[in-house]
Amino acid sequence: MNILVTGGTGYIGSHTTIELIKAGHTVAIMDNLSNSKIEVLDKIEIIAGKKPAFFPVDLLDFDATLKAFKSSRFDAVIHFAGLKAVGESVEKPLWYYENNIEGTINLLKAMKETDVSKLIFSSSATVYGDRGEDSARLNETMTTGVNVTNPYGWTKAMIEQIIRDVCGADPKFEATVLRYFNPVGADKSGLIGEDPNGIPNNLMPIVMKVYLGKIPELTIFGDDYDTEDGSCERDFIHVTDLAKGHLKALEHSKPGVSVYNLGTGKATSVLSIVNAFEKISGKTLPKKIGRRRAGDLKSICADPEKAEKELGWKAELSIEDVIEDTLRYLGNCE
Ligand code: UD1
Repeated sequence: MNILVTGGTGYIGSHTTIELIKAGHTVAIMDNLSNSKIEVLDKIEIIAGKKPAFFPVDLLDFDATLKAFKSSRFDAVIHFAGLKAVGESVEKPLWYYENNIEGTINLLKAMKETDVSKLIFSSSATVYGDRGEDSARLNETMTTGVNVTNPYGWTKAMIEQIIRDVCGADPKFEATVLRYFNPVGADKSGLIGEDPNGIPNNLMPIVMKVYLGKIPELTIFGDDYDTEDGSCERDFIHVTDLAKGHLKALEHSKPGVSVYNLGTGKATSVLSIVNAFEKISGKTLPKKIGRRRAGDLKSICADPEKAEKELGWKAELSIEDVIEDTLRYLGNCE
């Protein structure tokens, strides 16, 4: 297939592009490079053997978006492009709603105008909202869009609804919504990984910067939760496993909206992933236990059975793989 990947130079987009090329697809990337670097294209070429075409286009620019669609004949679109920092979304909600929602509407309009009707959307477990104790094993039948804790999460929930409505109005439209849990790790080549601009907010990018000495200390947000070791638990999924989920979703695309969790089904605590990182790297990280972070839930984990049953997809890589691949990537960053 000839596939357009929006946000394809970003973290998950670049890893997915690699798996798509390796599987024999032709890929074009559309990205405004607001949180990624153009050099990623060369890295993709080294790893996958082929450089994707590149459109330096911002989805907020509808004319440029449509022009890109008219210049090629895409069979499918995988849509990653969007802003994703939770804290920033609380500070700049309008910027998030404009970028993520208007950007997606422009994309859908360009798809309609050029008769492209296969979409895979990068959503997040955040759409399940704060459901207290009920977050320990989330499955796709649960309600979404209630008690979502921040504007970033709301943009994901709202885009899911927009996609449902577009599918409702057009019986031939095929959309697959993939709800990611906590993506971590790097391509096993060590050439690409997570490389956010500015100060990171998520656990692994912070651990990586502490390891490199670029952030003085890691703060563990709370060790007094009602969990085995007192720290929060998350479903950390290797980004390459996640990327492969998109290939399976493409293969099984069908008219209407299909929704799948992409997670491992296994919760790992913050302390245990940090301990594993120290053990495998052989380096003790400067760290302290801090207060709970506002809005954090004790334990979040996917029920990944639907993806296994319907897509034949299952996460295969372990936390050890995550850390080894991250360290290989960091070795190239030092
Ligand atoms: C957040 C978002 C999620 C998004 C994901 C991207 C919400 C509620 N959460 O998830 O939508 O898809 O990022 O990966 O919208 N931690 C520390 N110290 C740190 C940083 C994090 O202890 O310096 C802990 C947190 O308290 C949390 C865990 O690590 O328990 C994971 O945090 P983080 O990587 O930020 O991801 P989430 O909050 O789970």
